[in-house]
Amino acid sequence: MHPGTTDGARLLPTPGSSDQEDAVADPGFLRLQRALQLTTGLDLGAYKERQMLRRVTGFLSREGLRDLGELADAVSRDAAVRQRLLDFLAINVTEFFRNPERYDDLARTVLPELRRRFDRLRIWSAGCSNGAEPYSLAILLDELDPGSADRHQILGTDIDREALEEARKAIYTADRLKEVSPARRQRYFRQLPDGRWELVPEVRRYVRFAVHNLLRDPYPPGQHLILCRNVIIYFKETAKQQIFAKLAASLVPGGYLLVGSTETIFQPARYGLRAAAPFLYARMEAG
Ligand SMILES: C[S@@+](CC[C@H](N)C(=O)[O-])C[C@H]1O[C@@H](n2cnc3c(N)ncnc32)[C@H](O)[C@@H]1O
Repeated sequence: MHPGTTDGARLLPTPGSSDQEDAVADPGFLRLQRALQLTTGLDLGAYKERQMLRRVTGFLSREGLRDLGELADAVSRDAAVRQRLLDFLAINVTEFFRNPERYDDLARTVLPELRRRFDRLRIWSAGCSNGAEPYSLAILLDELDPGSADRHQILGTDIDREALEEARKAIYTADRLKEVSPARRQRYFRQLPDGRWELVPEVRRYVRFAVHNLLRDPYPPGQHLILCRNVIIYFKETAKQQIFAKLAASLVPGGYLLVGSTETIFQPARYGLRAAAPFLYARMEAG
């Protein structure tokens, strides 16, 4: 993570910058792009390149590397450099109950409504990083319907295998738990001797993790609720539109899509969605 930064959304995006402005032909950047694609599957080409280039240049000086070619080599051979680069780009930043008011809406209205209409809920956290988001959902589900991990299913996916390994461990430093109330801490976490917090197995059981690239892989169908937050901001307009269309198609009619607070969907109807609340969209019934 960039020092002193807690919210990736503030680091990278300048919403509105066009694909045209983003075209970068720096050969070092292209090498880096290839190296990252081969090692992590991450396709920098679909991201806003000028912003990425600025950030990557900052990373170079921090690491004492001479140029982007040297960085491309380091990224190819050294997993630690790769991870530091992803962290520096703030690509992985997340925390439990990030933007708590969104989770309040889910707990008060969306989840109870879905629970009334559907017996078994399928929920997908797309771009879940180290798991704080799907586990926050698991806590809400457990509060709504205690001990229901056999009934409801949460899928957490990300392109980043190392983030998913962290997610499966479910051990977090205190800064990831800022928004977790003392009551929830007590109920759903236990503190380890080194001060970190481990999520209890009964909540972990709600969530299954899988590697998934939003730009490339087939989307899981039949979802009642999808959270895709602070992921789309990194993409160019064309990639964004494709992702919104596929996310919408993954929802059951009446299912909901929650996006991040800089990711408003303009003209949601073209994806078969209608705005239901801030940053929340419902899939319209077919026909
Ligand atoms: C800033 S984190 C957001 C985490 C969480 N959704 C939240 O809002 O707290 C963005 C995540 O998107 C993932 N990501 C980036 N590109 C992706 C792609 N093409 N497919 C799937 N995940 C991707 C990154 O690896 C990272 O873990």
